[in-house]
Amino acid sequence: MKKIDIRDYLTANFIGRSIEYHETITSTNIRAKEIAREADEGTVVIAEEQTMGKGRLGRNWTSPKGKGLWFSIILKPKVKVEEATKITLIGAAAVYKALKDMGIESYIKWPNDIVIDGKKVCGILTEMIFRDKGSYFIIIGIGINVNLDEEDFNEDLKNKATSLKLVRRSEVDRNKLFAYVLNNFEILYIPFKEKGDIREAIEISRERSILIGKEVRIIGGNREKTARVLDIDNEGQLIVKYRDGKTEALFSGEVSIRGMEGYMDNC
Ligand code: BTN
Repeated sequence: MKKIDIRDYLTANFIGRSIEYHETITSTNIRAKEIAREADEGTVVIAEEQTMGKGRLGRNWTSPKGKGLWFSIILKPKVKVEEATKITLIGAAAVYKALKDMGIESYIKWPNDIVIDGKKVCGILTEMIFRDKGSYFIIIGIGINVNLDEEDFNEDLKNKATSLKLVRRSEVDRNKLFAYVLNNFEILYIPFKEKGDIREAIEISRERSILIGKEVRIIGGNREKTARVLDIDNEGQLIVKYRDGKTEALFSGEVSIRGMEGYMDNC
């Protein structure tokens, strides 16, 4: 297993210029939260393995050693808190673009998954740390299943998740992909940080959406509803139409979107 080294590929000016590397850690998001106050914006925590990788909605995130990219970026934007939650879409668009730069086509499952062949290859967990006087930091945790093998996925995950190695049938260069994500992230993040402008990330999420036009199940709390996905609006919300004809704009918060059969029906 080669240690992560992205010096040959990193062109970003502040995202990834400072990297804290761990062989093993509980969760890079937990560590990033610990160091956020002192860290420069754009500092990245990356680990070869996470023993308590965190997914959305309290789930675990499988993070076997040396096979994926498990990392968290510390951000300190000056935009309003309500706007800041949209950063997940920048993460998703950055991963999509990085994969494209590597010659790999993928789809975005709003708001935070990257999907290939109907299965998840990447998930994003955005967390906020609130400080006094309303200021805050953001931790955007990105997990990419790069070179995982079949046996790295448990029975439950096998139907929903895959790796880049499994879809390509060959290993993917983790260093290159990691740097490409950071480079693309910075390009999409600068207009947002400076002017709250997130248009490009939303356009990419819309163009590459695996959900638009599909009938889906929307799971939130104890309720499950069926709806057709119409669009992603300019605020980054998912516009859905229920069977009774009512439409709703969903905010990325606490909902899970599933295909009618499983994680996502093949596309
Ligand atoms: C999800 O799809 O549920 C989100 C998964 C996020 C996983 C990444 S791996 C790096 C970072 N550290 C964590 O503990 N979680 C995120």
